[in-house]
Amino acid sequence: MNAKEIIEQLTLEEKASLCSGLDFWHTKPIPRFSIPSMMMCDGPHGLRKQASESDQLGMNASVVATAFPTAAGIAASFDRELAEMLGGLLGEECQAEDVGLILGPGANIKRSPLCGRNFEYYSEDPFLSGEMAAAHIRGVQAKGVGACVKHFAVNNQETRRMTADALVDERALREIYLASFERAVKQGEPWSVMCSYNKVNGEYASQNAWLLNNVLRGDWGFDGFTVTDWGASVDHVKGVAAGLDLEMPTTGSLEDRRLVDAARSGKISEAAIDTAARRVLEGVLRARKSRDTSAIYDRETHHHMARKIARETAVLLKNDGGLLPLSGQRVAFIGKYAAKPRYQGAGSSHIHAYAVTCALEAVRSVAQVTYAQGFDDAPDARDNPSLLIEAIAAARAAEVAVLFVGLPDSYESEGFDRTHLRLPNNQIELIREVCAVNSNVVAVLHNGAPIEMPWISDVKAVLEMYLGGEAVGGAAVDLLWGAVSPCGKLAETFPLKLSDTPCYTSFPGDYDTVRYGEGVFVGYRHYATVGKQTLFPFGHGLSYTRFEYGKPTILSGGTVRKVSLDITNIGDVCAKEIVQLYLSPPTGGAVSRPAQELKGFEKLSLEPGETKTCLFELDSRAFSYWDERVSRWVVESGEYVIQLGASSADIRQSISIMIEGDGVSAIAVSQDTTFGDAISIPGATQVLEPLLQRFLPPGMHSDDDGMKRMLDATIGYMPIHGLRGFFGDAGTDELIDSIVADLKRLQQSSH
Ligand code: BGC
Repeated sequence: MNAKEIIEQLTLEEKASLCSGLDFWHTKPIPRFSIPSMMMCDGPHGLRKQASESDQLGMNASVVATAFPTAAGIAASFDRELAEMLGGLLGEECQAEDVGLILGPGANIKRSPLCGRNFEYYSEDPFLSGEMAAAHIRGVQAKGVGACVKHFAVNNQETRRMTADALVDERALREIYLASFERAVKQGEPWSVMCSYNKVNGEYASQNAWLLNNVLRGDWGFDGFTVTDWGASVDHVKGVAAGLDLEMPTTGSLEDRRLVDAARSGKISEAAIDTAARRVLEGVLRARKSRDTSAIYDRETHHHMARKIARETAVLLKNDGGLLPLSGQRVAFIGKYAAKPRYQGAGSSHIHAYAVTCALEAVRSVAQVTYAQGFDDAPDARDNPSLLIEAIAAARAAEVAVLFVGLPDSYESEGFDRTHLRLPNNQIELIREVCAVNSNVVAVLHNGAPIEMPWISDVKAVLEMYLGGEAVGGAAVDLLWGAVSPCGKLAETFPLKLSDTPCYTSFPGDYDTVRYGEGVFVGYRHYATVGKQTLFPFGHGLSYTRFEYGKPTILSGGTVRKVSLDITNIGDVCAKEIVQLYLSPPTGGAVSRPAQELKGFEKLSLEPGETKTCLFELDSRAFSYWDERVSRWVVESGEYVIQLGASSADIRQSISIMIEGDGVSAIAVSQDTTFGDAISIPGATQVLEPLLQRFLPPGMHSDDDGMKRMLDATIGYMPIHGLRGFFGDAGTDELIDSIVADLKRLQQSSH
């Protein structure tokens, strides 16, 4: 029997029981129909399966699993295949542990670098975030395990995350915050979507009919099941009526009874419960069908893969004088994270890691280094001064000092946001002291999100490892000594200072109200548009080689524009380049748009001297913006500039393209339509010219430039109903109605 047939035979109580959890991690079984209970576990960058009985808060120890690099780094790889491969490895671990669905990936946008959970999210850019999330989902699900993209939607901060109300205009929602999920859903087809805790424009996400029914299902065609974030359900009946299918973790039988009573009293239709129960059941049956009872995985192989992935996620931010890669110098490793790396974040994604490789251990096979701990994770208290003295001595004796620094667990985590972007004071002091005695300093960073670097000019090189998973130490050594070239690029802007960030004045909001006043100008969209300098721009990342960008060519017209260009490795080592395509809108458009937006990226691996061709496709969505007047995507006519670059601030080539827009169809003609807007309707001049001749006194047809401009503007911005106010008896309702009718007719005939 399929899910629908089973649902037809279940009692109302049984159906309601499918809509809430059995315990912290399971759905409810229905033995009468041999419906099993499905286990869901946290991801997204490793399997967190609780070994023993699940406790109330799901905090018990979990089974050993591989801790892979977190999403911040995965996004920096700009590598869809890598994200898909990671998903596949997670899927294998889930199969081996009998887990039906793994919670993640997180597709929330990094609105502020302060968000405590940014390490778990991909990017400030929805295109990149959506592409990576979709790839992750495809990888997991190819192994017969469900993925659950989270947290839908607009969960961009941890402060008051269960009560905050994100007030966001629809354009910013559609173009930024929802766009990331849209791509993940349409291209990844996840089995499930997890609702966020917060409210979106006044209603909790888990009972927000507009989000769940109109957008997710209606606009995007999602056909899996929705689940609350753990403990996010506020009013279960309202949730189910609004398109929620499963509440987690468990409310015993209380909410099931409430749902049944609500159906009996007509507060909710039984059909709504049938639908929710069917969707959950489809997920459970899918998991049962694709269960591989013989699955096992090799932990060593996965650990090795974690190292390989980490190498691709690191970003070389600075490398003055080509200090890196190292070869043969006397090197000192300084900083606690060389021996005890910070390799994962805290909270629900915390993995019981199989084996952690630190750089100090990994370096043994490559070079002999000295080591000094340098600091302790007691950022507010003063460290034992001997740590600093020892570090200075080690730095002085070395030709190159490699500092392993970053953010401690107490600085960034699920559950709270940062309040500043600084490293702990004791680490800043360490950096300064080491730089004072050694001019060849490399900083290797272990952090989940951007930091300020007031010391940047004192160090020669910076290698951002993010929270690089359990094999991060090995990957750092591989990169430092050039076994492979760094190839990651930033999926987020590193601002010079916190007050430069676009939402500085509205993050984390006032009490429970968070106004997203910056609209679509999130991340680099803001910095690029206002021309603000950054510490490191979005898309930035260096390599041990150099790449040359050939001239781009537009290959064809049609609805999908194809752009190609050649990239050549003009250096001495094999390396990968991430080529980024940004689109710059026509000037003078109807709405204010970012100066550049990422619409494509390709990652190429090139041997020295090798050339490869990069091909990008731009569909009409790439050119469009969300038009709030007509609630849909609209393409404006005009000249767009296609920028091709090595980062958002390092555009190497550009080429213009004329695009024929949707034009008039965006204007909903009414009495409020201005003459300026109306004139763009084909044929409108015939209707409007005689009117202007009739209503404008002859003296007002001026030759004076200033006057002409003023008149054009006054008339251009005048709505049709303005005829009534200005021209007395002549501006009759009949006349106004007939103009509106004529324009509507013209508009229709132009379609
Ligand atoms: C987190 C989710 C997580 C869930 C289960 C929640 O607190 O926000 O991301 O999947 O707990 O652990």
